Amino acid sequence: MITRVSCPSTQDIIREEAMLGAPAGTVAITDHQTQGRGRRGRSWTAPAGKALMFSYLARPRRPLAELGTLSLVIGIVLCENLPIASHVRWPNDLVADGGKVAGVLVDLITPREGDPFAIVGIGINANITREELPETDRLPATSLLLISGCEIDRGALFERVVNALDTALALFDLEGFAAFRSRYEMVDGLRGNLLVLRLPSHDITGTAEGVDVSGRLILRLPDGGSEAFAAGEIERVIDP
Ligand code: BTN
Repeated sequence: MITRVSCPSTQDIIREEAMLGAPAGTVAITDHQTQGRGRRGRSWTAPAGKALMFSYLARPRRPLAELGTLSLVIGIVLCENLPIASHVRWPNDLVADGGKVAGVLVDLITPREGDPFAIVGIGINANITREELPETDRLPATSLLLISGCEIDRGALFERVVNALDTALALFDLEGFAAFRSRYEMVDGLRGNLLVLRLPSHDITGTAEGVDVSGRLILRLPDGGSEAFAAGEIERVIDP
């Protein structure tokens, strides 16, 4: 395990280690990031010592085409192990009490030589107070502290989540996302909701009907048909 008091981003540390041949399960954890990254080029910020922030090296033994489902697997692991009730807002926001409590960033790397690997970045708003919550442009942020009313032992939560990641990724190697589909249903925070999905060229409105075996979001469209989407961002949930 690599521990840093402060660093630009734990994603960069794991990337370097991976290129040097580090084994699956290598983890970098920090108390503070100066250039923390979120999905879609966003930044990820948290006050020093309050969030649980780490990156985990996955070397999945599945075909490249299946690796898009990894972020759902990580979301399931988080929901199952956070000390509060939460759900996944496809593809990888962890939502509790109407706010975002954790985020997952999966950087999939396909090196010129060697097998692809994934850098799984996890940021959990653990002991962040209301005044310290970051400004957001979509979902409001919340924290485990605000929801549970008590201080979280970040070390214990880290151990628990990393052990669960080891177990889940071993299962993913054997059976792929098929082994996780029913578990996803238990944590799916969108099923049955009318929502607006933002695609690169336009927005689309439909009712969420879960995910398919490739982890694509299935939407029932106003014309009665259904369509599966591999990427996109939930812009709005219209009738939660
Ligand atoms: C998101 O919600 O957009 C994903 C946030 C991921 C943040 C974590 S914190 C640890 C790791 N290092 C980073 O720079 N980002 C991820």
